Amino acid sequence: MYELTHPWGTLSLYRWPRRRNETLQAWDNADQYLLNTLEARAQQGKETLVINDSHGALSLAAGQRGAVIHSGDSWLAQYNIQQNADENSMAPIRHCWPDEPLDAAPDQVVMRVPKSLALLESQLAWLGSQLPEGTPVWLSGMDKHLPRQLVPMMQRYLGNGQAEYGWKKARLFSATAPGKILVEAPFPCKVEGPAGPLVVHAGVFSQQQLDIGARFFLEHLPESLPEKATVADLGCGNGVIGLGILRRYPHVQLTFCDESWLALKSARENVGQYCPHATVTFHHGDGLSGVNDRFDCILLNPPFHDGHTVGDHVARRLFRQASKQLAEGGELRVIGNRHLGYHKVLGRLFSDVQVAGSNKKFVVFSCRAPK
Ligand SMILES: C[S@@+](CC[C@H](N)C(=O)[O-])C[C@H]1O[C@@H](n2cnc3c(N)ncnc32)[C@H](O)[C@@H]1O
Repeated sequence: MYELTHPWGTLSLYRWPRRRNETLQAWDNADQYLLNTLEARAQQGKETLVINDSHGALSLAAGQRGAVIHSGDSWLAQYNIQQNADENSMAPIRHCWPDEPLDAAPDQVVMRVPKSLALLESQLAWLGSQLPEGTPVWLSGMDKHLPRQLVPMMQRYLGNGQAEYGWKKARLFSATAPGKILVEAPFPCKVEGPAGPLVVHAGVFSQQQLDIGARFFLEHLPESLPEKATVADLGCGNGVIGLGILRRYPHVQLTFCDESWLALKSARENVGQYCPHATVTFHHGDGLSGVNDRFDCILLNPPFHDGHTVGDHVARRLFRQASKQLAEGGELRVIGNRHLGYHKVLGRLFSDVQVAGSNKKFVVFSCRAPK
């Protein structure tokens, strides 16, 4: 736990989910820069829209100044913020998912530049559609993470925008809202899928084309499944893997899971288009946590980063969850880049780990729960 001192008070902030020996802080200088800017330059009005906060540094600090609404695509970020609100005995922060209308006009906006340019683009377009003309908008990010196209993109969607001074390797950008949609963002995109083109909303994995790992995974799906098997597409993205299963085994009961709102929205639309009569459910959350079912089969093409942090810690959490939620004799089927060495982690969780397919780049593992 660390203490963040900001212009309106102090907050105790954890990174969630909690990890033993956590070394990373739950905020950075780009957050602090935005809070200092809010203190120095914000309007009299105190309602702040915060976008893409990850652990609550922005939302909770702004919440100690006035009313706050947070918007972002990530279920985990929304959960982290609420957990830290609880830790600090604060009321839950109102949340607005991408594409949802705002229920009040904020006096100013503070926004962390997201990792995905596509998500940034769609969020800027959304701001154009939601904010009264002249509402100040501040963006910030750490220098090493900032896209070159940021200012031109702000100018395109907001009609104005400029870079300001840097501070401790963070940079600030400012603009005002145009009060109308200047340009529609070019989303959703379409990519190849098992039965035809799939919808992919902004920022969802594999925006331009079918991921080569997913393509290989589709060639190595389970050879047989009981007719009414329960199956989970864990980290489903646009739903491509689950749709591959439904194409072969139309009577299975499939649960699509993802922590990204726009991923699940894509998967929902794709299932509606290609398998409208399938028995499916959609779970928005951290992997399988909160899902009570046991699965005969869990399919996973795991993430290899968590925001800007690259690593296999999310994959390992999903493996652990899967190992606990397989039915007797059930199978976790995982694809990974060869160099990631998933077999070592999987070997600690499952006594039976086989290679179901491999090429120079990828390995597909089949991990069985005991009967
Ligand atoms: C490598 S992509 C795979 C997407 C899709 N299954 C495919 O093969 O194209 C990993 C997916 O996991 C999702 N994800 C990341 N962390 C997650 C978590 N903790 N719980 C659920 N989904 C998560 C990401 O949003 C992303 O859609």
